[in-house]
Amino acid sequence: MVGIISLVTGRPGPSGFGSASTAEQVTQGIDASNLTAIITGGASGIGLETARVLALRKVHVIIGARNMESAKEAKQVILHENESARVDILKLDLCSINSVRTFVDNFIALSLPLNILINNAGVMFCPFQKTEDGIEMQFATNHLGHFLLTNLLLDKMKQTAKETGIEGRIINLSSIAHVYTYEEGIRFDNINEEDGYSDKKAYGQSKLANILHAKELSRRLQGSPIFMQEFEGNKARAG
Ligand SMILES: NC(=O)c1ccc[n+]([C@@H]2O[C@H](COP(=O)([O-])OP(=O)(O)OC[C@H]3O[C@@H](n4cnc5c(N)ncnc54)[C@H](OP(=O)(O)O)[C@@H]3O)[C@@H](O)[C@H]2O)c1
Repeated sequence: MVGIISLVTGRPGPSGFGSASTAEQVTQGIDASNLTAIITGGASGIGLETARVLALRKVHVIIGARNMESAKEAKQVILHENESARVDILKLDLCSINSVRTFVDNFIALSLPLNILINNAGVMFCPFQKTEDGIEMQFATNHLGHFLLTNLLLDKMKQTAKETGIEGRIINLSSIAHVYTYEEGIRFDNINEEDGYSDKKAYGQSKLANILHAKELSRRLQGSPIFMQEFEGNKARAG
């Protein structure tokens, strides 16, 4: 309850920042030129604002996007404001297992370090549909694609953390909607069934999966140089 009131009012927490704080305010004064980050869905919405501000703080940003045209435009928007920004784009369609694997192969081929992975992309409230892999679209995109992406990048992140001595970060964008799911929480026995499908509950279930993924990975990464955290998405504020 206190969390929801703070979210709505923007009241700052112990860090001095709250939901009314902008990304620029939170990162003010930080020189992150020694960091490389991947952000999924970084071509629009919260992802674009995150990519913009990370680039402003000199992070080398890799945007994973399914629509390369809008990703190119996003890159231009960032470069227009900050011509020394380091931004690259790579094709990534999270609802395709094949595309996630190809994205990781392409990223590894660049021989870059990887300090930060931001699992941001998401689809919301779609009518029932299945992906090319036969999986319900919201669960596939919001959770499974990111789950696979994270697993495939984990060794690279551990290697980077070991070589640089800088703790890595993995962030899952979840939502307050994680509380609004099917009665049983996640419908593990019939994830891909159209029968009884609710676009909102399927979204909530995928966002609950984001949190459970973050919690379990965080437990497994105890003692390793990577920190895993879930984040409740909120419209990023510009400026
Ligand atoms: N906005 C909110 O108030 C809010 C609240 C709570 C949680 N969240 C969470 O925050 C995250 C970002 O939300 P947003 O509001 O910024 O959403 P958005 O404006 O709709 O942006 C979503 C991004 O994800 C990308 N995407 C969708 N499906 C994809 C796929 N299969 N492969 C790769 N990229 C894909 C989209 O690319 P295209 O341009 O190609 O569609 C877009 O760039 C989501 O995880 C959402 O659940 C948002």
